[in-house]
Amino acid sequence: MRVFVSRDMASVALGADDVARAFVDAGCNVVRTGSRGLFSIEPLVEVETDEGRIGFGPVGPGDVAAILDGTHAARLGRVEALPFFASQQRFTFARCGITDPLSLADYAAHGGWQGLAAARAQSPQAVIDAVKASGLRGRGGAGFPTGIKWQTVLDAPGAEKYIVCNADEGDSGTFADRMLMEGDPFCLIEGMAIAAHAVGAGHGYIYIRSEYPYCITTMRAAIDASAHLVAPFVLEVREGAGAYVCGEETALLDSIEGKRGQVRAKPPLPALQGLFGQPTVINNVLSLAAVPFVLAQGADAYAAVGFGKSRGTMPVQLAGNVKHGGLYEIGFGITLGELVNDIGGGTASGRPVRAVQVGGPLGAYFPPSMFHLPFDYEAFTAAGGLIGHAGITLFDDSVDMAHMARFAMEFCAVESCGKCTPCRIGSTRGVEIMDRIIGARDAAPSGAGGAVGGYLDKALYSRSPARIDTSLDAQTALLRDLADTMKYGSLCALGGFTPYPVLSALDHFPEDFGASAPLKEAAE
Ligand SMILES: Cc1cc2nc3c(=O)[nH]c(=O)nc-3n(C[C@H](O)[C@H](O)[C@H](O)COP(=O)(O)O)c2cc1C
Ligand code: SF4
Repeated sequence: MRVFVSRDMASVALGADDVARAFVDAGCNVVRTGSRGLFSIEPLVEVETDEGRIGFGPVGPGDVAAILDGTHAARLGRVEALPFFASQQRFTFARCGITDPLSLADYAAHGGWQGLAAARAQSPQAVIDAVKASGLRGRGGAGFPTGIKWQTVLDAPGAEKYIVCNADEGDSGTFADRMLMEGDPFCLIEGMAIAAHAVGAGHGYIYIRSEYPYCITTMRAAIDASAHLVAPFVLEVREGAGAYVCGEETALLDSIEGKRGQVRAKPPLPALQGLFGQPTVINNVLSLAAVPFVLAQGADAYAAVGFGKSRGTMPVQLAGNVKHGGLYEIGFGITLGELVNDIGGGTASGRPVRAVQVGGPLGAYFPPSMFHLPFDYEAFTAAGGLIGHAGITLFDDSVDMAHMARFAMEFCAVESCGKCTPCRIGSTRGVEIMDRIIGARDAAPSGAGGAVGGYLDKALYSRSPARIDTSLDAQTALLRDLADTMKYGSLCALGGFTPYPVLSALDHFPEDFGASAPLKEAAE
């Protein structure tokens, strides 16, 4: 009997290896797949039957007998038919959770390499035209049109050109890059080989964070297994060393070159002078992994899905205090509320959702009153936020939003590469302001500043309290001023976007800062 068990790190962390071993011991033919993407049913076991693959989950190693005779209480039926999966539009993650990630035969049997074959039958310009027509935009955060980036590299003179895949995946609450690389690594390799054909690159690098050791092993094995299929294009994996800023494209290039990862000033654009000074395509995992679909199914099929200028699908990642955390791939346009409440099922704690942060540590916090927002680059920008890498982190009503704002400043201070002053110094000053605000709030619930104690003691440091106006009005004015300086004066988005979580927390949750409710109504 054939049984499918995920080998994805999230499933393994929940006990999938023990479950797989128990089925092997029971004489089953166990196929290790990627994860389907719904963590509340992991470890998930699927048993091959005449009715299709029947899922059971979550299960433990002691459940083998009950699963094999079909009587186990966690019988889910056909996994594809579960509402979480039936309502998705899986373009990029179509194979994830279904195939054996390292089986070339499985990959080919499920449509693999068709995009590369179609690309190689066309001129580089025709491939780039297809990517442009698909409307694909970079999934790493900035949403820059992928086809235009590739065009710049194709047109740039250069003795050597490179394809670099950004798999640093530093955003909190995100895991789609890891899931794709562990669950369908040939898809990324195919996307990179298509990019190489399109721009004339001979060498590619996949920069993976060191916190993903299992992913690194899987990618290296997949590169070895498929080297003959993508030749003369040559690929290798480079390991990051744990700095958030190394996800920024120019710091990443420095890191691959063996230097300390520090942001480079632009221009020159990496597309013109990137890795080792040569024209370089640098794209996120999901941008590159979307390309095989575009070439195999046609640009129109991809562009037919979506909302406004956000075409195609987005693999959304639901995390934090969420009931049904996981990966949900869907066309742009679904509302934030549908994702949080209908798909995610609200909080795991069962308490009301108070805030969601969208787009990682540099993303804005949104209250439920903004859940009507459609998932769309432009709509989120207009609402003072960003989609980023599409991580959505839920918080229930026990969250203290002033502390979250402080955390954003602290995160920036810790992760700053130090190259520019607004970020390096501004983030530290920002932590101090937040300490004063929290200190004043805790010392004087009315919001009137002046009392010294706790956080405030720390925030005043060596200065005399008498010389600082610690009133909420004075400190929030200072905070907004600082946020402006960081937003417009920083060299990259680490310093430039840190104001988003800070100011969204202040604007949407002023009561946590010691302000009164009318401010909140004004902000909404
Ligand atoms: C501080 C910082 C961290 C970033 N981290 C990542 C990351 O982990 N992964 C990623 O793909 N892009 C990250 N980016 C965005 C990249 O700089 C770049 O926009 C992206 O790799 C371009 O690929 P795309 O066009 O396919 O999105 C980060 C940017 C900044 C400023
Ligand atoms: S904003 Fe921060 S991380 Fe970016 S270049 Fe300036 S100091 Fe470095």
